[in-house]
Amino acid sequence: MLFRGENIQKKNLVVCMTGATGSIYGYRLLLACSKIQHLETHAVVTRSAEETLRIELGITAKEVLKNATFNYREDDFKAPIASGSFNTDGMVVAPCSMKTLSSIATGFEQNLVARAAMVALKERRPLILLTRESPLNAIHLHNMLTVNQAGGTIMPPLPPFYFGMKSIEELVDITVGRVLNMLGIETKMHKQWGVD
Ligand SMILES: Cc1cc2nc3c(=O)[nH]c(=O)nc-3n(C[C@H](O)[C@H](O)[C@H](O)COP(=O)(O)O)c2cc1C
Repeated sequence: MLFRGENIQKKNLVVCMTGATGSIYGYRLLLACSKIQHLETHAVVTRSAEETLRIELGITAKEVLKNATFNYREDDFKAPIASGSFNTDGMVVAPCSMKTLSSIATGFEQNLVARAAMVALKERRPLILLTRESPLNAIHLHNMLTVNQAGGTIMPPLPPFYFGMKSIEELVDITVGRVLNMLGIETKMHKQWGVD
């Protein structure tokens, strides 16, 4: 796995999990990151995400966070990622609940996830939200538009079915690969139509 560009430099990513269904996305993302050289992750798992991890994957946040380089509690506003002075190469919220989306869209920094997202936007760093809810009401849609207009990327985890993947993990990893690719990190997980 390589970073784009000639000089290989350490990268820092913020990876947060919130309580929408689809905890497998955050889990597989952190797992993938843990296998990439020169990549450090700063992870936050909200209390609601702890629940969805337990319900959906039968695992604890502690097990998931073994794949992160650093992790912080959601009320830890002294964490490095709460400050723009701490350099990061971007942030992903996977999955992103409508509650967290709304905190980001309104600038209401009620926890470290929302605070770190506001930092990413103000510092003009990539912010990718794997927003998950269905169907969407006008409030959800407005919030998504607001974050998009502030520079964030709204990327609902909708799997593509044209690559012939056979398992849930394979489908999830296509999105994970796409997210990493958007952050300038090339992996074999990123599939391209028409490219073998
Ligand atoms: C099994 C389960 C699935 C959920 N799925 C969603 C979802 O897809 N989208 C969403 O916005 N909230 C969903 N929720 C509700 C959130 O967990 C809840 O709004 C929570 O307060 C979000 O908090 P957080 O953003 O701080 O993690 C789900 C809750 C449970 C228990």
